[in-house]
Amino acid sequence: MFSYEEIKTIRKQFPIFKNQNIIYFDNAATTQKPFQVINAITKYYGNFNSNVNRSFHFLGQFSTNCLELSRNKLKAFLNAKYREEIIFTSGTTESINLIACCSYNLLTKYDDIIISHSEHHSNIIPWQVLSQNKNANLKVIPVNSEGELNLIILKKLITKKTKLISISHVTNTFGIINPLKGLIKTAHKYNSLVLIDGSQAISHLTIDVQNLACDFYVFSSHKMYGPPGLGILYGKKQILDKFPPYKCGGGMIEKVTLKKTIFSGLPFKLEAGTPNIAGIIGTNKALNFLGNYSIRKIKTYEKKLLKYAINILSNIKGIKIYYKNSKLTKILSFNLENINYFDLGKLLNNHGIAVRTGKHCAQPIMDYLKLNGTIRISFAIYNTIEEMDIFYNSLMKCLDLVNL
Ligand code: ALA
Repeated sequence: MFSYEEIKTIRKQFPIFKNQNIIYFDNAATTQKPFQVINAITKYYGNFNSNVNRSFHFLGQFSTNCLELSRNKLKAFLNAKYREEIIFTSGTTESINLIACCSYNLLTKYDDIIISHSEHHSNIIPWQVLSQNKNANLKVIPVNSEGELNLIILKKLITKKTKLISISHVTNTFGIINPLKGLIKTAHKYNSLVLIDGSQAISHLTIDVQNLACDFYVFSSHKMYGPPGLGILYGKKQILDKFPPYKCGGGMIEKVTLKKTIFSGLPFKLEAGTPNIAGIIGTNKALNFLGNYSIRKIKTYEKKLLKYAINILSNIKGIKIYYKNSKLTKILSFNLENINYFDLGKLLNNHGIAVRTGKHCAQPIMDYLKLNGTIRISFAIYNTIEEMDIFYNSLMKCLDLVNL
């Protein structure tokens, strides 16, 4: 467990907390950036800016080396088997779209794709469009009254018609950790591929893709202290090898004539165009930052924050917390009787507290639970118990104002 002093030292690495007095509890939307990440990006543009994999001058070589160094680090971070299994995209949304587009030929009429009821829109819409285009079925794993996957129905849904299951590691609305290992094992018995959307798990849980045995694992750098606009797609080499190019253009070819093109192999085949080089460099520094701490320790610390938050908020009259079970990590969603979540979010904002309010880009689960929205608190490594106390006191002041 981190000591108070350790967290203080970690927090000092984030300039945003020096520059203003804020409580930032919206880490599920995006995390703040440590100075290592910010400085590396500024330094890159100030001293080394150039394209990659094209120009053989020293600047071009520097950028290309940085890109491949980040790829190697991501391979190690995820425990992938091959470096070619790490593909750079613009974010989780693009990664899922890439897999959906490249899976087009995998599906035939009446095949099944399975998602869960708790997915955010990025992990729903690409599958809806793909299944509609192919006349396939989009099946949905329901959740129980605790917001967890209904495992009994899940087992019945997976059949030999299932071609792909796409599911979040941690749900973005309620922070529930999904039981992936059993699901992946069952899916593989039926030869279905499994894609894990790790947006809310990355930098909060240890990820070992070989141990998980998933076919794809996707996430965004901006949710792990890195910059926005950079996504990471892990895919098993033997599957990605069979994927057709998703976008076509520069940087992904062996030979082009006006009649035909011979494409490069992995990873370049799936990385057409100039990538987000500064984003990749910033991601490398975010990995260095995370490398200073054990993810296991981060998980334990964030769990402590969550438990503390659940305990103090549970005493408030009229509060409904979604949920309080043991399968939660770093997210707490709640509502208060007779107070609109949006109004409360605005009042908290007046106290310098940033939370997210609404449906959290996950309308189907909110509609199913008959919720117009919730207030969502989400933690990261730099949050503290003291902040949670200030949050509680501010919340009480807001409630006093509302109940005048
Ligand atoms: N999916 C992100 C969130 O949960 C944007 O806030």
